[in-house]
Amino acid sequence: MTGPSASPTKISARPSVVLRAMGDDRRSADPCTLVIFGGAGDLTKRKLIPAIYQMAREGLLPDGFTLLGVAREEMDVAAYRKLMREEVAKSDEIEAVEDETWNKLAERIFYISGDLSQDAIYRVVHEQLAVIETPRHETERNRLFYLAVPPSVFETIVRHLSKSGLAPKMTDDAVRPWARVVIEKPFGRSLETARALNALVLELFNECQLYRIDHYLGKETVQSILVFRFANAIFEPLWNRQSIANVQITVAETVGVGSRAKYYEEAGVMRDMFQNHLLQLLTLTAMEPPVTTTADAVRDEKVKVLKSIRWLEGPDIDQASVRAQYTEGDVAGEHVPGFRSEAGVAPGSVTPTYAALRLWVDNWRWNGVPFYLRSGKRLAKRASEIAIQFREPPHLMFASKTRKQIEANCLVMRIQPDEGMSLSFQVKQPGAVYQLSPGIEVAPVAMDFSYDEAFGAWSPPAYETLLLDIMIGDATLFTRSDEVEAAWRIVDPVLKWWEANPPANMAGYSAGSWGPAESDALISKAGVWRQP
Ligand code: BG6
Repeated sequence: MTGPSASPTKISARPSVVLRAMGDDRRSADPCTLVIFGGAGDLTKRKLIPAIYQMAREGLLPDGFTLLGVAREEMDVAAYRKLMREEVAKSDEIEAVEDETWNKLAERIFYISGDLSQDAIYRVVHEQLAVIETPRHETERNRLFYLAVPPSVFETIVRHLSKSGLAPKMTDDAVRPWARVVIEKPFGRSLETARALNALVLELFNECQLYRIDHYLGKETVQSILVFRFANAIFEPLWNRQSIANVQITVAETVGVGSRAKYYEEAGVMRDMFQNHLLQLLTLTAMEPPVTTTADAVRDEKVKVLKSIRWLEGPDIDQASVRAQYTEGDVAGEHVPGFRSEAGVAPGSVTPTYAALRLWVDNWRWNGVPFYLRSGKRLAKRASEIAIQFREPPHLMFASKTRKQIEANCLVMRIQPDEGMSLSFQVKQPGAVYQLSPGIEVAPVAMDFSYDEAFGAWSPPAYETLLLDIMIGDATLFTRSDEVEAAWRIVDPVLKWWEANPPANMAGYSAGSWGPAESDALISKAGVWRQP
């Protein structure tokens, strides 16, 4: 922020709402067996098993719940249970593993090892399920198959699931026992491959059995965008081109590529973050109110937004996008190498670790309002937010010294960390200046709402929310086939253009900075990026 005070004064706007009484109105999950392919992999260890433990601790797991890990690593059930407990203990989100909760859960955890590309392992899964799905475990033969594996194995697994009869195709009206299939991102690596994967899974299963994950949709603050927009009457009349000058969506990370260089070299920031997370944030910000909150009503509106986004084409892409890579620098007091020096990255790699895009939503509500999206690794701060930049007042009557610096109102929805909302506006600066100068001095202040202050430890991790929804059968927070394709339609031309036109000199930005100068130039017509 510019203006008299560098950081606006915070006025606490603690809401009167109280946390929904947990317990009474919680939805209940169906009994089931969760079969995790990639059961000893990174995602299972870091996200899935801690989420399952938390669900057990909070009483959200159905009594008839069992978990079957399937992976290449050879170990017996006891070793698997021990490994999973160690991973739960490592999780940042869990303070201490409670023996009673863990022991009860561990009895319901099973493991088999084998090669996921061979028929044999699916026969063993069958045999194991026959043992697990006994009256003792009361799973009611509901099965949830989670593909926590690299995308190169998706096709093999879904074909085997279908061929082996483990996950039969359900009809529209079939209810139980159910078989659901969870597919992690990235869903395809281009529009063409996403279409092919959709065609395959829709041949093998019914859409109602498919849960395409975008973990951003499981974040509380992402879901609360809809509540904020559609449960309050004051913002919606302003939520359009008459009042809004531009929208800025930032997903900034301080982490580098870490141990995922192989995956990242193929994906780059556009596939890794834009095709899914950033476009999801855009759709929730720009969509029309759905008639109800059913999965299809919400997803219909999101698809409409994606279809309204103007496709970028040919050389225009250079004007509307920026790509760059981090070079060495300091992040949070630590000196870190540049992307090209990371283990597993080619020295001449042109994979972008940062991108910015200017998009236009060509519909009645948003005509002429640019949407600026940016995301990168090794940036100055971990911060995801959506900034709604309102128009300036049509006429400024204050003959103020600071008039040129008066900022338009800005509403910021902070997705993470420090989840909350902040609305900036101008007030009269108190004091003697008024008497001495010919006009009133103004100063920016902010009304700030923090989820943490209002609700305390309120936020369940995204994977907990998503796993619970899958067990319940609520697909609202999952990407439908047409939605995933509509998102690919936007990023695919950019990726193709970039790949066909590699930069002679890849733009760089120092690790620990806010990205390349080119990104500031991209937004300069509309102003500057809001600093989270
Ligand atoms: C994942 C990406 O989908 O999202 C990662 O593959 C990224 O590269 C991560 O770091 C960011 O998620 P979060 O929840 O930490 O913002």
